[in-house]
Amino acid sequence: MNTLLKGQVAVVTGAGSGIGAAVAVALADAGATVVVNHPNVPAPAEEVVGKIKSNGGTAIALGADVSKEDEVIGMFRDIVAQFGTVDILVANAGLQRDSPFIKMSLADWQFVLNVNLTGQFLCAREATREFLRRGPDSSRSVATGKIICMSSVHQVIPWAGHCNYATSKGGIKLFMESIAQELAPHKIRVNAIGPGAIKTPINRVAWETPAAEAALRTLIPYDRVGVPEDIAKAAVWLASDESDYVTGTTLFVDGGMTLYPGFATGG
Ligand code: BGC
Repeated sequence: MNTLLKGQVAVVTGAGSGIGAAVAVALADAGATVVVNHPNVPAPAEEVVGKIKSNGGTAIALGADVSKEDEVIGMFRDIVAQFGTVDILVANAGLQRDSPFIKMSLADWQFVLNVNLTGQFLCAREATREFLRRGPDSSRSVATGKIICMSSVHQVIPWAGHCNYATSKGGIKLFMESIAQELAPHKIRVNAIGPGAIKTPINRVAWETPAAEAALRTLIPYDRVGVPEDIAKAAVWLASDESDYVTGTTLFVDGGMTLYPGFATGG
């Protein structure tokens, strides 16, 4: 337990598993009160809340589908009613629906874009409205608010068979940078984290057998598959005053996956 985020309220979307769950636990360990959002599937989120409480932290689970405007507005209304305000948003909710381009259904294209990109737009907009309503309060944080967009190495690495997902992450990059530019005068910091291959349910097939993990490691110069805690540590830093001069940046936490590993020996 440290005190980097003491007295602050954080919302983590899609926090019932994987990276979101680890981020929620780490923010609470740093002293934040954490809202563990889930897409109306309470059991895993309640488990994360239980873990936070057993670590001595404060958390609640709140259901909302981030791709639905009324649900997002309702969630932020609930949070402000319960905790007074919000200081930190980690817009993490994201998913994959993979298929070859020519076989991709419109439904799979739209579903991924709706959750991964529109979900970040809706949550960031409601968080920002609350930051501006509350205004600066240096007893909470130097910045008036902090937004962390969960992106991916696939905001820069094209990904055959996953064009909906890569498009959503490429979109997050310019969404994040555009609102960072717009909100900096209001002392709202907006950044992204670009995780590489992290062991979570979303990519289980890529690491669950020794052969799959060995193949995956050929894409990672640092030669290990990441764990959710690698991302959680970066999120705590970006949410805290320790990163007060950082805005509009994507922090890749990827063991070097974005370093064109194929060129280590070729070219
Ligand atoms: C994807 C994972 C993938 C990783 C590296 C992530 O954004 O969700 O499925 O393993 O990027 O390719």
